[in-house]
Amino acid sequence: MAGAVQSGNFSKALPMNGGHGLYSYSKNSTYQVIVAVKDLITEAIAEKLDICVLSSSNTICVSDMGCSVGPNTFVAVQNIVEAVLNKYQSQEHDHSSLPELQVFLNDHALNDFNTLFKSLPPNRNYYVAGMPGSFHGRLFPTDSLHIVHTSYALQWLSQVPKEVEDVSSPAWNKGRIYYSSSADQTVKAYADQFAGDLDCFLHARAQEVVGGGLIILMVPGRTDSSPHTRVFSNISYDILGSCLVDMAKLVWILKPP
Ligand SMILES: C[S@@+](CC[C@H](N)C(=O)[O-])C[C@H]1O[C@@H](n2cnc3c(N)ncnc32)[C@H](O)[C@@H]1O
Repeated sequence: MAGAVQSGNFSKALPMNGGHGLYSYSKNSTYQVIVAVKDLITEAIAEKLDICVLSSSNTICVSDMGCSVGPNTFVAVQNIVEAVLNKYQSQEHDHSSLPELQVFLNDHALNDFNTLFKSLPPNRNYYVAGMPGSFHGRLFPTDSLHIVHTSYALQWLSQVPKEVEDVSSPAWNKGRIYYSSSADQTVKAYADQFAGDLDCFLHARAQEVVGGGLIILMVPGRTDSSPHTRVFSNISYDILGSCLVDMAKLVWILKPP
């Protein structure tokens, strides 16, 4: 008998701004890493995707996790679909035996899936379905996915580490939203949270992805030789954090609680 599907509330959902307005994700997110890594993805699929193992099924199932509202997810998915079809063609599969592709677009349930689905490329050569829920837990049945892709989403933590909000803890972050200029204990609290979240993600995918399948993870990082205080994105989060604190103080002065 199959066990119950574990679809618990794994992460705090803070999805991107939906719609296509001035401040929407769709109007402010073009050209992230997706275009830059196209060749790497094509190469990984050509070299590592084991189509001998996958050939038992004529449907290749792909999931983009943390897809948001587009348009980047469509570029990523199209790259993957083309790379898979090229791989089959290069291995002399005739056109009639090319696989069909089923793509599951995943994000938190609060993501603006309506905008996402309304913007789907009209001439796409794959089937699409939404998969709401946190990628920190199980989303798919066992051995049901062939390729998992995630870009610029895995660094979203499931929660702010408790210690950084606790004034009595050495990891207390003094109201800051980031750790670039914080004590080592604060940095460690964030690093531990990320390690735990990544573990949950990999544990779930290990059960969902078939043997011979592929997981493609795109996560921003820094080299060992660049300290947190020197990384541009970290510095910008500090500036953003201090602006948010100023705005909160202003609201408090104009409209005290
Ligand atoms: C910066 S966006 C990246 C979107 C898209 N992959 C891209 O490259 O444009 C990060 C996305 O990850 C989603 N996300 C964060 N944590 C998540 C989780 N635990 N489960 C599913 N999606 C998550 C957010 O809701 C957001 O839409």
